[in-house]
Amino acid sequence: MLPDVVEAMLPWLRGNHANPSGNYRMAKLARKAIDTAREQVAALIGAEAGEIVFTGSGTESVNTALHALDTLSGEGTALVSAIEHSAVLRYVESGRREVVQVAVGSDGRIDLDSLCAALPVAAYVSIMAGNNETGVIQPLAEIIHLAHSMGLPVHTDAVQAVGKTPINVRHEPVDLLSLSAHKFHGPKGMGALYIRSGLDFSPLLHGGGQENGRRSSTENVAGIVAMGEAARLAKIALEDGTIEKIRTLRDRFEQLVMSGLSGCVRNGDATFRLANTSHLSFESCDAAGLLILLDDAGIACSAGSACMTGKRKPSHVQLAMGIPQTRAKSSLRFSFSCLNTLEEADIAATKTIAAVEKLRRVQGSGIGPVAIYTP
Ligand SMILES: Cc1ncc(COP(=O)(O)O)c(C=O)c1O
Repeated sequence: MLPDVVEAMLPWLRGNHANPSGNYRMAKLARKAIDTAREQVAALIGAEAGEIVFTGSGTESVNTALHALDTLSGEGTALVSAIEHSAVLRYVESGRREVVQVAVGSDGRIDLDSLCAALPVAAYVSIMAGNNETGVIQPLAEIIHLAHSMGLPVHTDAVQAVGKTPINVRHEPVDLLSLSAHKFHGPKGMGALYIRSGLDFSPLLHGGGQENGRRSSTENVAGIVAMGEAARLAKIALEDGTIEKIRTLRDRFEQLVMSGLSGCVRNGDATFRLANTSHLSFESCDAAGLLILLDDAGIACSAGSACMTGKRKPSHVQLAMGIPQTRAKSSLRFSFSCLNTLEEADIAATKTIAAVEKLRRVQGSGIGPVAIYTP
């Protein structure tokens, strides 16, 4: 979390612990703080405050959106992309509808012809804004236009994209949009769901009727305030060149690593990509071994997305892009933020090159994985 986000949160952890549904003075202060945060989150995506519902995570936002679409839509398939996050894929798979996954090209972008072919039998569409492994950005405005022209509602999982690329629900008139605070320097365990004003909605959580009946649960005031502050800062970062600075770090890292190593390939479209993400494959290198070496060197990165780490299956995202299994198992995702420096990008590149060279030597020698620990 950014230091200002922590500061904004602390008074609601240390001092005012009132329930915002109360009628006493402290409760009204808490309510007012929630209202401000709602406006801040709304402003980040060009929405009205009343269109924002706070949730407990990106996953909850996604599940809530899909629950509403599933409950209120008529017959038809759940139309998603093949590269969705498991929050989408596992939810639709658990339901009663047939699920259709739209293919992506080798650049990681949705194949719009496949989308069009699948629309006539769909009940609703859920396609992500930016991918959590490759960072590839989808043509959201076109997807929404195509779905709406068939009368279909659209949800987008914008958990990775919000705060890293401009998203405006008026320009990209999506019906439901999920976001998560920890992806833009807010706290973990805080999400929000944009619900277009006037859209039919059916809540996932029933109870005390908080969030205008759209998400019952006593509000996490500290988390909501922190998410609001993070959203305010993220909006500034999108406008003041901070995102471009992050892109410079990422590009420099990529340029150093790719020019310093043979057999290193970047995955995903080079242009339509979140500014902070670099997804690279290293020929003849097992990603799990690389992760160990890089962790030892103080570099925190991941094989696939963090959510996939620990599972040894090649990522469904890479397979959907037609990346062969061996290459998929030799891929790492590196992410940069406004808290990183150019010097750190250089160090990360140097250490990545050294780790790849070391692993290639060991893998080729037949000595086995134990040797990678030898200094
Ligand atoms: C694209 C995407 N959707 C959904 C989620 C889930 O968000 P959360 O971890 O806040 O539940 C993630 C988390 O990494 C994500 O990357």
